[in-house]
Amino acid sequence: LQYCASEGHLGLRKHIIEFLKAENIAVHDDDILITVGAQQALDLIGKIFIDKNDTILTESPSYVGALNAFLGYGAKIETVPLDNNGLQVNKLKEKLKTLKKKPKFLYSVPNFHNPAGVTMSKKRRHDLIELAEKEDLLIIEDNAYSMLGFNPDDKFPALRSLSEDVIYLGTFSKIFFAPGARLGWVVAPKAVLEKLLLAKQAADLCTGTLSQVITEEYLNLKPWRPRVKQMTKIYENKKDVMLGALEKYFPKDTSWTKPKGGFYIWVKLPYFVDTTQMLAEAINEKVAFVPGNNFYPDDDGKNFIRLSYCLPEAKEIEQGIKRLGQVVKSRIELYRSFKKYR
Ligand SMILES: Cc1ncc(COP(=O)(O)O)c(C=O)c1O
Repeated sequence: LQYCASEGHLGLRKHIIEFLKAENIAVHDDDILITVGAQQALDLIGKIFIDKNDTILTESPSYVGALNAFLGYGAKIETVPLDNNGLQVNKLKEKLKTLKKKPKFLYSVPNFHNPAGVTMSKKRRHDLIELAEKEDLLIIEDNAYSMLGFNPDDKFPALRSLSEDVIYLGTFSKIFFAPGARLGWVVAPKAVLEKLLLAKQAADLCTGTLSQVITEEYLNLKPWRPRVKQMTKIYENKKDVMLGALEKYFPKDTSWTKPKGGFYIWVKLPYFVDTTQMLAEAINEKVAFVPGNNFYPDDDGKNFIRLSYCLPEAKEIEQGIKRLGQVVKSRIELYRSFKKYR
């Protein structure tokens, strides 16, 4: 078993070209760098772009693994809020006016956001590309959940399909339910890809050949579209179970997003509930969530929780949300009774 090319095993890059075609992204094999998951791509991007105290932009909330990768290189993170239609491009425009230093890039998860469960509208995608061109802003598009859309008629063009200047990240972790394979990829303009390749060589010479060859062979033997369709249907059913259970068991002063794909629901609790403090109680009831504050580079998000319906079975989802609803209710009641006697 030998090292493979630092760019990644050619046979696997050929398959990645096919996935990208499904996103209307036309690339050659030498436009792709295979990485140890999309997470390594985030780290390499941090390594080549960020000098200490450089400003970068992320959505708020944002994927915690990206925040940690960028913070690790000393980035100062400025945030732009999301709403139900994804990144608020008008707020990005305002934010750009207030920055003293030009940001190195904007990091965005346009599809089926982790943690927010929202998807950027088609109009906003076009607006974002237009703004980025005008302001010379580099965009990192993390499309980890691409193809996991529940409605095949929903068409959300990848940002990279709208502009070749966008750096695009993909992964086998979510679409093939194979995070243990540790395989992801980057598509980037030539000059950037060369720098990423040097950084990759310094980090680990190449991504593990065994995992790449096994994945290539799997894809040679099995057409991937039916598998993705089958998994997406399973996730959609679980999402419906979770949304139904939230309606049934969560108190009325709470709200949540309704994902069009992916794995996550983002739940807002009353402002006085600190979900990090609430986690221990939930674990006592044998149910877990990720406290919202983890997805912000600052103090925000304390009254949010991220729920994932990807792994548990439908019955477990129903049970888990029932127990969590009880924990939330008792937190709210506790606060109200303290307030009454203060
Ligand atoms: C948005 C996003 N990007 C990247 C990753 C990392 O994926 P990988 O397993 O390919 O490293 C994740 C994992 O949860 C993710 O949610």
